[in-house]
Amino acid sequence: MISKLTLKEVDLSALRVFIRVDFNVPLDARGTVADDSRIKATLRTIDYCQQRGAKIVLASHMGRPKGKIVPELSLKPVADRLSHLLGEKVIMAPDCIGPSVEKLINGLGEGGILLLENLRFHPEEELNDSHFSQQLAGQSDLYINDAFGAAHRAHASTVGITQFVPQAVAGFLLEKEVEQLSRILTKPERPFTAIIGGAKVSTKIDLMERFISLVDDLLLCGGMVYTFLLAQGVSVGTSLIEENKVDPARLILQKAQQKGRRIHLPSDFVVAESLSAESPRKVVPREEIPAGWMGVDIGPRSIEEFSRIIRASQTVVWNGPPGVFEIEPFAEGTLSVARSLAESRGTTVVGGGDTVAAVHKAGVGDKISHISTGGGACLEFLAGKSLPGIEALTNKNQG
Ligand code: 3PG
Ligand code: MG
Repeated sequence: MISKLTLKEVDLSALRVFIRVDFNVPLDARGTVADDSRIKATLRTIDYCQQRGAKIVLASHMGRPKGKIVPELSLKPVADRLSHLLGEKVIMAPDCIGPSVEKLINGLGEGGILLLENLRFHPEEELNDSHFSQQLAGQSDLYINDAFGAAHRAHASTVGITQFVPQAVAGFLLEKEVEQLSRILTKPERPFTAIIGGAKVSTKIDLMERFISLVDDLLLCGGMVYTFLLAQGVSVGTSLIEENKVDPARLILQKAQQKGRRIHLPSDFVVAESLSAESPRKVVPREEIPAGWMGVDIGPRSIEEFSRIIRASQTVVWNGPPGVFEIEPFAEGTLSVARSLAESRGTTVVGGGDTVAAVHKAGVGDKISHISTGGGACLEFLAGKSLPGIEALTNKNQG
């Protein structure tokens, strides 16, 4: 539970609501929204407020402009897509604070929607500056946080602002993410399997540490697995490694063994001479990665083993792709894992931008129980950290 007060308990009619959303979405070369899943995921909250006659101000960051105005990181394309999805005009503000914005907010009718410009065009956002938080809050009657993807950031729009609004609650998306992710952490049906991949060991250490105590089977793969192989004394050719993570990797393997958890490393790999679709490639057993070659995907035997474990599980969490799936010839391992999750009859949860993209690439998005809108936020939540954006709501409602 996030806080005692929920959105459903608030009388919204004619209220001015400030909704923090995570519209940090990828844009294509033409500058239009390339993937609108994060926008769609907030529609329930927006629609709910609109139906009840609230005046709606939406706020988000986009990319990392580092406190400067970067026109390519304007939220204008998001306003266009949101207008299209809602079937009515969303007004785009020229900034997120200031007199011109206030005027637009004052002009909103019941059910009207204004999208503020990128919060991170102001350095005060990431500094969680108090004056800026107060300016953002303005005359809002209610603050709704529906930005699960940004809940791990202690910024003005996720934390500071809660001090300057009369009421603060979680939106439906934030609530759902917390519910779904908490459920698998607290009472997962067993066997419980986690697949952890992706490029870097460093970003996944906390998650692996926690999962060692939670899961029955831990499948490690992706670029980070080569650091684990090094820790076992296996040569990895020119594969990606993090030298300073060899010891932590060894410790994780030891801990898993002490706790009697089954930890699985791939038994074979697709290796290539370079990271390109044209590169020569071949399948080799784990211990035989040749000098001058790099691991780019898991091999067919590993795919078989991973699928078997996934299919026998009642709960599966997946974060991080097993291979460089953006390059067609190295995508099979990742797409197979996605398909195995889709075939599972258990509860399946996927988090992380790349992993979610892989699920969509495999065309199985609708067969996954929960696809998180969070990247870093999802990782931190699963690793058991408390997220500042969620803390702020809880604190507000405890007072
Ligand atoms: C994300 O995409 O992970 C969130 O929107 C947070 O963005 P950030 O990592 O730039 O804070
Ligand atoms: Mg991120």
